[in-house]
Amino acid sequence: MEHWSYRTIIEPFRIKAVEPIPFLTREERQAALERAGHNLFNLSADEVTIDLLTDSGTGSMSAKQWAALMDGDESYAGSRSWAQLQEVVQQITGMPYVLPCHQGRAAERILGRTVIPAGSVVLNNTHFDTTRANIEQAGAQAVDLPVPVAHDPGDPSPFKGDMDLDALDEALARHGDRVAMVMLTLTNNAAGGQPVSMQNIEAVSARARAAGIPFYLDAARFAENAWFIHVREPGYREVSVPEIARRMFDLADGFTMSAKKDGIVNIGGLLCTRREDHYEKFKNELILGEGFVTYGGLAGRDLSALAVGLQEALDTDYLRYREASIAYFTEGLDQVGIPVVKPPGGHAVFIDAGAMAPHIPAEFFPGQAVANALYLEGGVRGVEIGSLMFPGATMQLVRLAVPRRVYTQSHVDYAIEVAERVAARAAELPGYRLTHEPPFLRHFSARMEPVPAERLPRRG
Ligand SMILES: Cc1ncc(COP(=O)(O)O)c(C=O)c1O
Repeated sequence: MEHWSYRTIIEPFRIKAVEPIPFLTREERQAALERAGHNLFNLSADEVTIDLLTDSGTGSMSAKQWAALMDGDESYAGSRSWAQLQEVVQQITGMPYVLPCHQGRAAERILGRTVIPAGSVVLNNTHFDTTRANIEQAGAQAVDLPVPVAHDPGDPSPFKGDMDLDALDEALARHGDRVAMVMLTLTNNAAGGQPVSMQNIEAVSARARAAGIPFYLDAARFAENAWFIHVREPGYREVSVPEIARRMFDLADGFTMSAKKDGIVNIGGLLCTRREDHYEKFKNELILGEGFVTYGGLAGRDLSALAVGLQEALDTDYLRYREASIAYFTEGLDQVGIPVVKPPGGHAVFIDAGAMAPHIPAEFFPGQAVANALYLEGGVRGVEIGSLMFPGATMQLVRLAVPRRVYTQSHVDYAIEVAERVAARAAELPGYRLTHEPPFLRHFSARMEPVPAERLPRRG
């Protein structure tokens, strides 16, 4: 029997170095939450037992990555580490021009300052918030074109990250020459980490090419997306994951990448292209803001660790485990009666807090109520993605993002148990009211106070 046919998810690694996790009493967590103004971003990490705030830059490096780190070449120009990274990126993606940068938003910033003119339009399945901010900073308009099922938490469609092709046709016709770029975010983070099908990437690429518009990927989770194509899209079972990844990149003119996700490094990013004209512009902007073209704001050792991480992210055993552990988490919550977004995405579990705590109106932040309750109950830190993060949001979610290779199945079992206890008393959860609201990106530093369930206005 192959190992994956067993019910137990076996982590495809053994542990060489361990890091203790903090355990606090409920009273200590209550005090920490009050000190933090009931905002989990304000907690100190040593007040958190299971930290599911993000999967970005929080992964564990492998022994090979640590070894590569020691071997890093810190020469200012033309280092050996750079040569290793360039070769790996070219081999995985086929992009001739590779530029390192310190993280994903640095790549987006360079894109925004070079090839996205003021007054133009960028079309994307769903822009991640930093991508949107960099496009808007350039004086351009960022337009999201997700498929309608992306907004339905219960719809089991396998590729809810796709772009709506009719909406794309309509946007291309409407905006014409003003469209500076078409992008696809793989996987679609803002829409629940849902994957984009190869069929959709092909269709979007063909339309962009026909219109003569550059087509770029946001490839932060390229390996997870390639894996979902492998297991969910007809005709790709026999195609290897690296081949699928290569086909995805072959359809694009370039990509931005936050390497803190599928690069499995704690810091790093990439901006790559096959267009020489773009490369020349990117290069100058990179030197201005990030560093010389062979290090781009990173240490040589970071480049070496990334070269190894990108290859490890395409490993079949790793990806099978990654998918299985997110699915296990999603199904475990579902089985204890917690409403979750389905099907499972690639990097996180999303609890439908609106359905879990229907007595809390959106303006009293049901997502924050559930997130805070998970922390208070068992020290599990997630993040609200609802009307606190996006005022006027239609879905009230809590995202529990799973760092790569960090937690084991028993940590997940514990988090499910914590959520089950919260669900048992969901009707008693308080809502929250803002006591301090910063002018933008308020969820990061807002402070709140609880409003007891019995004092909440009844939903009409
Ligand atoms: C899809 C996507 N694009 C871009 C970024 C920005 O990357 P970074 O945080 O490395 O700047 C992120 C980060 O979460 C992301 O998920």
